[in-house]
Amino acid sequence: MQIRAHTCGRPTLLFSPRFYVILLILGASRSPDRIEQYTRNTAIVRVFVTGACGYKGSVLVPKLIAAGHDVVAFDIQWFGSFLQPHPNLTIVKGDVRHPGEVELDGIDAVIHLSSVANDPCGDLDPKLTWEISCLATMQLADRAARAGIRRFIYASSGSVYGVSDAPEVTEDLELLPLSEYNKTKMCGERIVLSYRQDMAVQIVRPATVCGYSPRMRLDVSVNMLTMQALAKSIITVFGGDQTRPNIHIDDITDLYLFLLDNPQHTGIYNAGFENISILDIARMVTERVPAEIVITPSSDPRSYRLNSDKLLATGFRPKKTVGDAIAELVGLYRQGVLKNEERHYNLQWMQKTVMS
Ligand SMILES: NC(=O)c1ccc[n+]([C@@H]2O[C@H](COP(=O)([O-])OP(=O)(O)OC[C@H]3O[C@@H](n4cnc5c(N)ncnc54)[C@H](O)[C@@H]3O)[C@@H](O)[C@H]2O)c1
Repeated sequence: MQIRAHTCGRPTLLFSPRFYVILLILGASRSPDRIEQYTRNTAIVRVFVTGACGYKGSVLVPKLIAAGHDVVAFDIQWFGSFLQPHPNLTIVKGDVRHPGEVELDGIDAVIHLSSVANDPCGDLDPKLTWEISCLATMQLADRAARAGIRRFIYASSGSVYGVSDAPEVTEDLELLPLSEYNKTKMCGERIVLSYRQDMAVQIVRPATVCGYSPRMRLDVSVNMLTMQALAKSIITVFGGDQTRPNIHIDDITDLYLFLLDNPQHTGIYNAGFENISILDIARMVTERVPAEIVITPSSDPRSYRLNSDKLLATGFRPKKTVGDAIAELVGLYRQGVLKNEERHYNLQWMQKTVMS
């Protein structure tokens, strides 16, 4: 095949034949899969993100915008909002329990992150926890389906498995959630799955997330132990033998983008890549920050090893590690960007503000 320009009725090559050979080689290297991926990645989607001002949301929303999407960031803002204004970002301060505040016109996809987001907070007011994390999930999914939205990504939790001695916790294991928080997530999953005829339902069971976010959480294990070492030079480990899976905040937020780009991967996915005992996390911290480790008895028996092979089979790959998270937190603390503030601890902050 030759590409020609016609001048004075006589076909002539515009460039040397070598140029056209290179063009053909480049064209052939774009396999159908790569072209499809490219098309998906460039499609602009209007995304409604609940809990968008939270720890994960504050990292996810800027990534969605950078990927070219329009975002409606919906949050009750218990912990404030650290999202920066952008022409493609609409920030709505609202409550998922109030369907009238949830405006889904023109939305293509929902990423549902809002919840009372850990065990002790869930126990503060179980009715509130069930209303936000479960009943409102039902109302949101129902409204999304009625609005003709075709994609729904739900942030469940790896803690739905409870205590498990299974060497590898896979998605098909029986769920034995222990806390109100875990139970709302288990029920939330079933609710969302009941809409899978209407929408591409993608459920993530993340491990404990670690790393820096503009809306910081210091009540999650890696972050908490790192801050203890930095601020007090003592790390208190409760029990220490419990094995917990971890995922870096950059990876969990990348995963939501990946799922948005790949609606064919429906169903439930574990997302945790490093199963490490709490004591070993503490030891990893002391490799970077000198600190004494004090071990005390624990009342928290949750221990499980997450297997994320199903997720890896989709082609998704994590890029960061617990070690990266620790190093980043240490660096940001020493630069004065990260501070040990009350707002960064969900339980204390909820007791002081939401419950008062
Ligand atoms: N961080 C983790 O380690 C982790 C692990 C597994 C699962 N998850 C899940 O991921 C999601 C996000 O977690 P996170 O760490 O960002 O938590 P987060 O507490 O930082 O964020 C939750 C957000 O939800 C908002 N919210 C609470 N109630 C609301 C309501 N009624 N209406 C609107 N917004 C409301 C809060 O203001 C907050 O900004 C949660 O559902 C959590 O259960 C988190």
